[in-house]
Amino acid sequence: MDGLFDDASAIELEGDEPDGIAVGIDLGTTNSVVAAVANGKVTVITDASGRSLHPSVVAFLPNGQRLVGAAARARRVIDPNNTIFSAKRIIGQPFRTDEVQAALRHLPYQVVEGANQEPLIKTRAGEMSPIHVATTVLSYLRQLAAAQLGGEITHCVVTVPANFSEGQREATRRAAEAAGMQVLRILNEPTAAALAYGQKRQMHQRIAVFDLGGGTFDVTVLAVREDLYEVIATGGDPFLGGDDIDQAIASHLAQQFLQEHRVDLNTNPQARARLLMAAEQIKMKLSKQESVRGTLNEMAHGPGGVALGLKFEIDRSLINTLMTPIVENALDMTGTVLEFADIQPQHIDEVILVGGATRAPLIRERVGQYFGSKPRADISPMQVVAAGAALQAHALFSPGDAAASVGLLMDMTSHSLGIATAGGYVEKLITKNTTIPAEKTRTFTPAKDFQEAVKLRVCQGEDRQFDKNTLVGELILDNLPRVRRGDMKLEVSFLIDADGQLQVSAKDTASGKETRATLRVVGMSAAASAA
Ligand SMILES: Nc1ncnc2c1ncn2[C@@H]1O[C@H](COP(=O)(O)OP(=O)(O)OP(=O)(O)O)[C@@H](O)[C@H]1O
Ligand SMILES: [Mg+2]
Repeated sequence: MDGLFDDASAIELEGDEPDGIAVGIDLGTTNSVVAAVANGKVTVITDASGRSLHPSVVAFLPNGQRLVGAAARARRVIDPNNTIFSAKRIIGQPFRTDEVQAALRHLPYQVVEGANQEPLIKTRAGEMSPIHVATTVLSYLRQLAAAQLGGEITHCVVTVPANFSEGQREATRRAAEAAGMQVLRILNEPTAAALAYGQKRQMHQRIAVFDLGGGTFDVTVLAVREDLYEVIATGGDPFLGGDDIDQAIASHLAQQFLQEHRVDLNTNPQARARLLMAAEQIKMKLSKQESVRGTLNEMAHGPGGVALGLKFEIDRSLINTLMTPIVENALDMTGTVLEFADIQPQHIDEVILVGGATRAPLIRERVGQYFGSKPRADISPMQVVAAGAALQAHALFSPGDAAASVGLLMDMTSHSLGIATAGGYVEKLITKNTTIPAEKTRTFTPAKDFQEAVKLRVCQGEDRQFDKNTLVGELILDNLPRVRRGDMKLEVSFLIDADGQLQVSAKDTASGKETRATLRVVGMSAAASAA
């Protein structure tokens, strides 16, 4: 009998619990976090070493082995061409978009254009879809969760940035499905963070979520009314984050080394990589202590082959100086987003910090000064998104559990969606910042008489000219009756569901016959996009 009640797994839950377990996943560009509600509490899942932050990295080894998470991240310096990180930057987007091209300038591995304009990552294990990389990370997270929670993970809520497009959301959903989970919802990251703080709160609140991660900055304003969460404005910079602070520290160290030894470490990729790793360690220590000193051995060799080390000492005021342009840049963008929402900083009721980089004291201080109130970080900024996703997963998976209810979520579209019209222009059906779910219908006539087929081209973006926007997909309506263009009316409907996913349908109203077709999303291979 001894020890029988020490075993948590011996506790049986009462009532009709559905089979399986639902988790919440923050699939980050740099790191991912997975959490679940177990015995009424949010549990963050750890790996064998007790870490709760799992690098979103997959490494392909020469012996055919594949590593994921912390083990994979360790190979970034040794084997940069086969260690895939930041795949989130290119998932679900056509190869030729500015976003993908900009991301590629920052990535050391090779990416080529595949079928249906999908970017494919070249590795020694073959060409790989970014969806496949995400699936590999998600499978790993699923396994960790299963081991810790003692059951099969069948369902999930996955978070994405508020500005993710249709294609990016759909690609993320497919990745989770391929990892063996049913997707209960694709949730915006800032909404998830607000949810984690938001239970049982006062009625009307305006919340700003300030998310400075490894490589991306997002700021979002939400209106919370009882349990209705509405994204009212979002913005940011896809290339601003903690990595920039590491770069600034590494450059400072390289400059010091150049002055002391007349050797430029920046010209040696291996040395630069070591400087960046050291810089991150220094940065993290300086979030807790006032100064850090140490030596990096054998950074280069001097005359006669003598090993040259780099002795450093960096204090809080120096790192604050290096960090200042980054935080001021983020605050400028915050100003733009607040202006769009037509809200003064002091009218925000609560500011929530998200992302590892917000652990730096300077960032907390400046954000506090900007809004005129102390930002909240009582839930770990690195875990808060996954915690909110876990609460939402629990609410959707155990609908009978009243305590699990976390309300109805409302979000807004971050881009306009339209179709191509004659002359290469765009007719917008859904404008930017429309509250979703939303449905819009508009009637069109074909361009020519006796047209038997019509190709509808769908794009997202704000430009009047179609080609200056991003192509989302194409829809072909064929077998139309042979009539004059004036006698045919095509009714096109755009439906965006609660996950922010777009369904396009069209019908020929003149004949009364409804022709339905599904949208082919570009930026994903045919296999991955087959609905
Ligand atoms: N104690 C700390 N002090 C300062 N920075 C930190 C600290 N801990 C982690 N960081 C930084 O936080 C960043 C990672 O943050 P996070 O895990 O939130 O990113 P992410 O969500 O994966 O990235 P992204 O938001 O770009 O998708 C890294 O730059 C890391 O160096
Ligand atoms: Mg993040």
